[in-house]
Amino acid sequence: MPALHSIRAQFGESQPLAGIRIAACLHVTAETAALVRTLASGGAEVRLCASNPLSTQDDVVASLSEHDGIAVFARRGVDRKTYYEHIDESLAHAPHILMDDGADLARLIHTKRRDLLDQVIGGTEETTTGVVRLRSMARESVLAFPVIAVNQARTKHHFDNRYGTGQSVIDGVLRATNRLIAGSVFVVAGYGWCGRGVAMRAAGMGAQVVVTEVDPLRGLEALMEGYRVMPIAEAAPIGDFFCTVTGNARVIGEAEFLAMKNGAIVCNAGHFDVELDVETLGNLAEDRKTVREGVDEFRLNNGKSIFLLGGGRLVNLATAEGHPPDIMDLSFANQALSVKHLMYNADSLEVGVLAVPEEIDRQVAALKLDGLGIHIDQLTADQQRYMTSWQLGT
Ligand SMILES: NC(=O)c1ccc[n+]([C@@H]2O[C@H](COP(=O)([O-])OP(=O)(O)OC[C@H]3O[C@@H](n4cnc5c(N)ncnc54)[C@H](O)[C@@H]3O)[C@@H](O)[C@H]2O)c1
Repeated sequence: MPALHSIRAQFGESQPLAGIRIAACLHVTAETAALVRTLASGGAEVRLCASNPLSTQDDVVASLSEHDGIAVFARRGVDRKTYYEHIDESLAHAPHILMDDGADLARLIHTKRRDLLDQVIGGTEETTTGVVRLRSMARESVLAFPVIAVNQARTKHHFDNRYGTGQSVIDGVLRATNRLIAGSVFVVAGYGWCGRGVAMRAAGMGAQVVVTEVDPLRGLEALMEGYRVMPIAEAAPIGDFFCTVTGNARVIGEAEFLAMKNGAIVCNAGHFDVELDVETLGNLAEDRKTVREGVDEFRLNNGKSIFLLGGGRLVNLATAEGHPPDIMDLSFANQALSVKHLMYNADSLEVGVLAVPEEIDRQVAALKLDGLGIHIDQLTADQQRYMTSWQLGT
């Protein structure tokens, strides 16, 4: 993670976060540990909890608490009640900055813990679904502090959502099932940044990709990319694999499950476990059993079996290790620099959901290229003049 590494070196020297308390609710993975160590090396006191009960890597929790003295509230596979208790704990040191992945900390502090709102400078948000929730809080004038939408940085969603999700979803599907993707029909519900990545990598493995969408522009884009586009009702009976990445609820439900082929494999890579109606799938099943780690077979009363991966939670984190560090380097470099930006501009930032400043986006890209030893061209003075003049033409 060369970009984050160079930020850590700068933070270590200049201590920009000295005296700042941060509550972070993120997937507790090795890459997150690198971010937390960067924040701590800049002088912050960090409390960390998980943003999903199935994504926690317990060895990372142990290492952060044993070697770095970080308070981590997470354990893989905890029940819902414990999961929310952990989120409560992460706020107990009265943080100045909230770092969210899905806006759970923001929701909690604006509801149950309003007593902690006063000293909050601001927050950052890692994912699309969190940004959607925060914008809806801002629209209803509920949001009480500025939040930087890290997801909206180009160095985040163009890479993490597309290439990260693309690769790690295929990784999750393969680790869980060991099934052949070549020659299969792979249905991707939602052709946003994540969906583009999943479709691209499934096609690269030899699948016939079917895309379902509700946005005509994105449906058209998927079509021109060479995929078949159709409603989920038509895709249900022909798919071998299904992956939802919409950020929406109940995209695949009773009618689709009943129409699927015997042996269909379904998974979700959207932030919350609401895209597949798992409860209804359970109600339709005569029998349910775990056939491999992370794979549950639902034997339906129509005689067919459907295999659910990762319990319907983010498959790339539930049955694999999430995005590779090379990708999280970009996302977390944005996080670290956005926290510093919040600190230094606390008085002038508006309350609301804010963009990552363009300088940070470009700095992260430059740091990454530099870390990879890749150089690019610079505009010549002549080119600069040409690009800014309206008088020069044919
Ligand atoms: N698994 C991961 O590691 C990971 C990484 C980044 C983001 N996410 C999450 O993935 C989800 C998608 O993120 P994104 O950045 O691609 O969002 P996006 O907004 O770019 O794309 C979502 C797409 O889904 C479409 N959609 C909405 N409802 C639909 C429906 N009923 N049927 C078909 N399509 C529908 C939308 O039109 C849109 O094109 C979010 O929940 C986000 O938080 C997951």
